[in-house]
Amino acid sequence: MSRTIRKAVFPVAGLGTRFLPATKASPKEMLPVVDKPLIQYAVEEAVNAGVEVMVFVTGRNKSSIANHFDTAYELETELESRDKTKLLDIVQGIVPSHVSCVYIRQNMPLGLGHAVLCAEPVVGDEPFAVVLADDLIDDDGRGCLSQMVRVYADTASSVLGTEVVDPAETGSYGIVDPEGDGRIVRVRGIVEKPAPADAPSNRAVVGRYILTSRIFHHLHKTGKGAGGEIQLTDAIAALMREEDVLAYAFKGQRYDCGSKLGYLQATVDYAIKHHHLGDEFTAWLKRRIGCQG
Ligand code: UTP
Repeated sequence: MSRTIRKAVFPVAGLGTRFLPATKASPKEMLPVVDKPLIQYAVEEAVNAGVEVMVFVTGRNKSSIANHFDTAYELETELESRDKTKLLDIVQGIVPSHVSCVYIRQNMPLGLGHAVLCAEPVVGDEPFAVVLADDLIDDDGRGCLSQMVRVYADTASSVLGTEVVDPAETGSYGIVDPEGDGRIVRVRGIVEKPAPADAPSNRAVVGRYILTSRIFHHLHKTGKGAGGEIQLTDAIAALMREEDVLAYAFKGQRYDCGSKLGYLQATVDYAIKHHHLGDEFTAWLKRRIGCQG
């Protein structure tokens, strides 16, 4: 079996109800953090991890994602005629030429598990990554997905990106039952959104997965779970009864950009670090906080 990960699935068909009305006509994955939409950060992370085929599972209102990764003739011609070469490079360099983008429609938002299953015809019989763009991971160049691809190359086992969360917040995540507490551990069980009293740990799965194609077999058989949705977590629970599944505590800082607070925190932190804006923004922020303090 191949130990390289060539394909990544980006489920972008959720309703984004926590961000209404911003997500009424535009997907939450197009929300910008400073100057790039969330989906672009996610695609760049996948490109850096060696992924060559980006599979977007889209729903209604998702044409802006396809447009973002496509050629924009009018804009490019206009930038060229105005000699805006730097901007032209930015617009043309969003995905490198060796990378292809494939779009699949999820007709009904039946859940993350269902969205991943929609990608089966393109993924086929090879291991693949799943990236949830609303989990933005600042990894200072270490690349969360690159780290996980290396774990897969060493083990040939499915790998779940995990982080320790506040025990009171287990009800918002898939929570693993890990064998020990190392950076890479085997998972004995996984539960979707358990109440704190029922959670097997406070190690939560966040939006990065590497899965063997066997997951599709289980997704076909997975019925509605928590919240009435077809849950990826339930299929992973079935997968780990026949294959090793690993939890990997990635190095990096995650922002839950599906929530308003996480999105604002990411915006401030990315603005502080921004190569052009950083100093000016930080000086303004200090004055602003000082004013209110
Ligand atoms: P979320 O649980 O964040 O749901 O989905 P959501 O609908 O996007 O947002 P809220 O909770 O209503 O605010 C996790 C990921 O799974 C995708 C979402 O786009 C997001 O990347 N998803 C979810 C789908 O692609 N299809 C679905 O049916 C459900």
